[in-house]
Amino acid sequence: MKKLSIFAISLLFAGTAMFSSCGEAEKKKEEVKEEVKEEVKEAVKEVKTTVDYTAMAAYYTASCVACHGANGEGNEAMKAPALAGENAKFDAAEWEKTIKEGREGSIMPAFADADAANLVKYLNEKLGK
Ligand code: HEC
Repeated sequence: MKKLSIFAISLLFAGTAMFSSCGEAEKKKEEVKEEVKEEVKEAVKEVKTTVDYTAMAAYYTASCVACHGANGEGNEAMKAPALAGENAKFDAAEWEKTIKEGREGSIMPAFADADAANLVKYLNEKLGK
């Protein structure tokens, strides 16, 4: 009888140990999964940003260069202000609005179809740099 209970207890211990190590492995797996997820998310974000900037650069070249200059230096003859460099007066909200709606009383046209938020990000972070 005593032998049997010792056997039962050791079985219980073994079972508990197995169960908890299984739980550890499960936890580790979840952690690795989360880490991989985060890394993939970061990589996708990076690719997306690069793609956005490429698209924005193309858009800028096609639609804005004539007035604002290849490096966003502006153009006095056109009365077009600098959009990059030390003369630029960066204002994200104001610039987005200007791109979407144009500027009344000036030759700055409205680009209603533009991805203004990303375009402004491009101007601020990439143009002329
Ligand atoms: C036909 C010429 C012309 C084109 C093309 C043009 N702009 Fe402009 N832009 C202007 C002028 C002129 C102004 C100044 C408006 C004013 O007097 O308020 C201006 C102003 C701006 C401003 C406000 C800058 C500030 O400091 O207030 C932004 C931002 C801007 N343009 C972005 C763009 C972008 C982006 C494009 C291309 C999608 C573009 N513009 C195309 C002429 C142009």
